[in-house]
Parts: sequence; C-alpha cells; structure tokens
Amino acid sequence: MEEGERKQPGVAREYRSEQIVVYWEPAYCIHTARCLEGLPQVFDVRRRPWIDITAASADAIAGVVAGCPTGALSFARLDGGPQEQAPADTEVTVWRNGPLFLRGRIRIVGADGSPVREATRVALCRCGGSDNKPFCDGTHRANGFRAP
Ligand code: SF4
Ligand code: FES
Repeated sequence: MEEGERKQPGVAREYRSEQIVVYWEPAYCIHTARCLEGLPQVFDVRRRPWIDITAASADAIAGVVAGCPTGALSFARLDGGPQEQAPADTEVTVWRNGPLFLRGRIRIVGADGSPVREATRVALCRCGGSDNKPFCDGTHRANGFRAP
C-alpha cells in the first residue's frame, strides 16, 4: 500500500480496467487483510501498485471488494455487470475487541448536520482511541481494547 497517502480522509486511489474501477481510501483501511486473502494475485502489499486490476475477473474483484468491512475498497462496474447492492436492512456486526462493522445504506452526518460519509460499509470505533472518529483507524489493536 502507498504509505504517503495514509490517514488523509477523502483521498482515494483508482485502479481501472475496461470492466471495473476499484477505489481505495486509505484513511478507512484498518488492515483486516480480507482483500489480501480473498484474491492475493490482485491485492498484494509487497507490490507497487498494490492492486493489479487485470489479475482476475471483474466478477471476482467485485466480490472481494464488497467484502471489505470498512468500505476502504469500493468499485463501479464499467461493463454492465452488477453494481454493489446494499442490504435492505442495515446490519451491524460487533467485531471482537474492535469496531462495529455496519453494512447498509449508511449516511453519517456531523453534529452540525454536515455530511460526513455515505457508504454501503463502514467501521465505527468502539474503543474511543481512533484519530479518525467516528471511524475505526485500527488503534484498538495498539491500545489493548478489550470488550466484555
Ligand atoms: S479488506 Fe479493506 S480494510 Fe481490509 S485490508 Fe483490504 S482494503 Fe483494508
Ligand atoms: S475500535 Fe478500532 S480504533 Fe477504536
């Protein structure tokens, strides 16, 4: 992953083929490694760029991207293939000693009503230590957060 872009909300990198474009927003990536395990030929942090958009089918890439629990990865199909569909009912998954993973049509607004983020997947900090609240930034691993 390209370290220089980390922790800057709103910064997204694009990885594009004729079939699909994948966006990666490093500020929301907490290194769950699900993408690396799902398609190691596409997602490889030892390589630059770390995403090889040509190394698998658009269907396979879309499937793994949709499994990114933080929404750091998202995609748009350019070939008429199915776009990501959010579940009709919002799902909240409690991650052991870590964040809340939300999946749905999520819209987060600030105390002043200003839009913060719209996404189908987000990870919300549960430990109180994130520098990117309300989003988890992975600090729960360093601060020893333990939930009952
Ligand atoms: S699945 Fe998402 S949060 Fe996990 S390492 Fe990949 S981009 Fe980061
Ligand atoms: S739960 Fe991950 S930083 Fe707080």
